[in-house]
Amino acid sequence: MSSTAPTTRRTDDAPVRFGVIGAGFIARWFAEAVAREPGAQIVAVTSAHRERAAAFATEHGIAHAYASLEEMLAAHGPGSPDPIDVIHVGSPNSLHAQHAIAALEAGFHVVVEKPFALTRSQAEAMVKAARAADRFLMEGWLSAFEPGVARLREQLPRLGRLHRVVLSKEQFSSRMEVYRSGGLPPAFDPALGGGSLMDLGIYPVSLAIHLFGEPERVTATGTLLECGVDARGTVVLSYDCGEHAGLEVVCLHSKTSPGMESSFAGDHDVLSIDDCQWPRRIGLRGPTAATGTGEDLSVERGAEAPGHQLAYELAEVCRLVRAGARQSDLHPLSRSVAAVGVLQEARRQVGVRFPADEQD
Ligand SMILES: NC(=O)c1ccc[n+]([C@@H]2O[C@H](COP(=O)([O-])OP(=O)(O)OC[C@H]3O[C@@H](n4cnc5c(N)ncnc54)[C@H](OP(=O)(O)O)[C@@H]3O)[C@@H](O)[C@H]2O)c1
Repeated sequence: MSSTAPTTRRTDDAPVRFGVIGAGFIARWFAEAVAREPGAQIVAVTSAHRERAAAFATEHGIAHAYASLEEMLAAHGPGSPDPIDVIHVGSPNSLHAQHAIAALEAGFHVVVEKPFALTRSQAEAMVKAARAADRFLMEGWLSAFEPGVARLREQLPRLGRLHRVVLSKEQFSSRMEVYRSGGLPPAFDPALGGGSLMDLGIYPVSLAIHLFGEPERVTATGTLLECGVDARGTVVLSYDCGEHAGLEVVCLHSKTSPGMESSFAGDHDVLSIDDCQWPRRIGLRGPTAATGTGEDLSVERGAEAPGHQLAYELAEVCRLVRAGARQSDLHPLSRSVAAVGVLQEARRQVGVRFPADEQD
């Protein structure tokens, strides 16, 4: 495999060259981010339907469109006229493991959209495939690279010991309208790994693991839809030992209603953030704050323009691939595996089962 694999360390200034799996919502965000990142370029796209891949290619100025991943991987190896360095996996959740492993085994670097996988054993197989192929692998959990999360990492120690953290990712889903009128969009399809936990619960769960590590205990409740996935719910992560012993993180997620801000409570202070996916408004209240009315720790994140959503993540992927890295220090694979494990346990308690769970 190594003789046919793409170069592992890029020393030139040429853009990092991507192949995209999927022509849907996240593929559009990705293409818009690439359009404003001079260090990146999309060479090819594949989706489930050739005509959709072709339309996406035309819209975003991409040279090649395919109806299958195999075709795309075979056409864009290192010796080909238009080689690909990195595959971006933006297919439905149920295909992440299969697509990532196929690309890694063919010698490509891989970024997989969140959630990394459906089950811990799938996630572990992906990590094993990356190590065997000696290729870069990362979950596209954009929060890790956000300036607001960097601000949190920097400011949280000011609160001293944390007791209670409440993290919320709750928003009415436009796809809920489709579901209520009789459709079954992928985000609600149990066969494709849908539901609120997998789609939105991942944000608070991953943020907790990013900041505090893997919890010792997981307690989950949720409300199920008739199709078998959850519409909303709560996951409590309990830390029993180590640096965060006694900490409880309450993760709220919902696809049926908007939510509240998130907060971190220490002995005397509370730090609050507007959104646990990409915090912008950040405030500190309590005796540690610079003024009696509180301290504004908000960050600028740029305008809500096309391409801004994945901009920080994309820049980091390009930097890491150029440097010959095999994973991200900020968002290492062990944390993606841990998050998948927590979500799988939460699904088990709530009663959301996927076909992949049967093979576990
Ligand atoms: N990071 C974020 O903030 C964020 C936001 C949204 C979604 N996501 C993640 O992105 C992933 C996709 O979500 P989405 O909202 O983009 O879904 P989507 O709009 O339904 O798009 C999914 C795409 O996958 C393609 N696809 C399906 N089966 C395929 C196959 N066998 N081979 C190749 N392509 C295939 C579909 O092709 P056709 O178009 O041809 O049917 C479609 O273009 C999910 O894992 C989701 O969690 C992340």
